[in-house]
Amino acid sequence: MTKAQGIAYVVYQATDLDLMESFMRDFGLVTARKEPDVLYMRGADTAPYLHVTRLGADNRFLGGGLLVGSRAELDALAGLEGSSPVEAIDAPGGGWRVRMTTPDGVAIDAVWGQEAASPLPVRDPHPFNSGRDKQRHNQSLRPKREPGLVLRLGHFVLRVSNHDESVAWFQKRFQLLPSDYMCIPGDESTVIGTFLRCDKGPELVDHHSMLIVQAEETGVHHCSFELQDLDAVMGAHDYLASRGYRLDVGVGRHLIGSQIFDYWRDPFGFRVEHYTDGDAVDREFQPGKFAGRADETTQWGMDPTPEFFE
Ligand SMILES: [Fe+2]
Repeated sequence: MTKAQGIAYVVYQATDLDLMESFMRDFGLVTARKEPDVLYMRGADTAPYLHVTRLGADNRFLGGGLLVGSRAELDALAGLEGSSPVEAIDAPGGGWRVRMTTPDGVAIDAVWGQEAASPLPVRDPHPFNSGRDKQRHNQSLRPKREPGLVLRLGHFVLRVSNHDESVAWFQKRFQLLPSDYMCIPGDESTVIGTFLRCDKGPELVDHHSMLIVQAEETGVHHCSFELQDLDAVMGAHDYLASRGYRLDVGVGRHLIGSQIFDYWRDPFGFRVEHYTDGDAVDREFQPGKFAGRADETTQWGMDPTPEFFE
């Protein structure tokens, strides 16, 4: 049985690698490797890269990679119809992959055996003085308006033409667990979105590594990167605003998954998210059904525009 251990990377095609690199540095990623036709950006944690851009004639989402736990799992996936053989990855950290294609034609790699990168220094989380729990004593906070430093890739969201078929496709290959369902407003019997997490038994994982959602137009909705804490999100927000980048929606707190979110558009129009303080769950977490309105998915902060839900 093959089981995803996490998200490895997302892959885009864009017309200008320099432009992508300069935005992504401001967004909080670090260049891992740059070649004339491909750019690899990493975070502070040990993944060798998180965000890949291939140079091309137009701008589009190409796909993503999910980590699996062993070479044997790659071999099993390679045996499925439509899969590539196991092949070496020519990218930072190396490793092996099996290439597959979703029912909508998105390229998804199963990845194993990457060499961990050395972690980059990150400041400690700022202690928080809540009403009845003062964690910060005799100490002032001086957060800066500066590029956040992304720690890791948390999730990405796929818009698909057939929700049930795509969820089945991912579950067959990666044994992802449903964390929550989105339904047609007022109709719990019709599921149009499923938040999926990795099954690591008693180990805590992100509430979702992926969201699969029914949509008119297929492709990526956004990819999302974790920052250290709220000060990091807000400092990055002010910094990105000062650089003149396009805010999509933020800051706010999501309902499903509870993250404090901040969405920006990269120079090619792709939506990228910073988040912190998302739900961490284990195998005991039971999915619920959300059949409310789109504007009820934000608990506080800036409400997304209708375009966000298209
Ligand atoms: Fe997100």
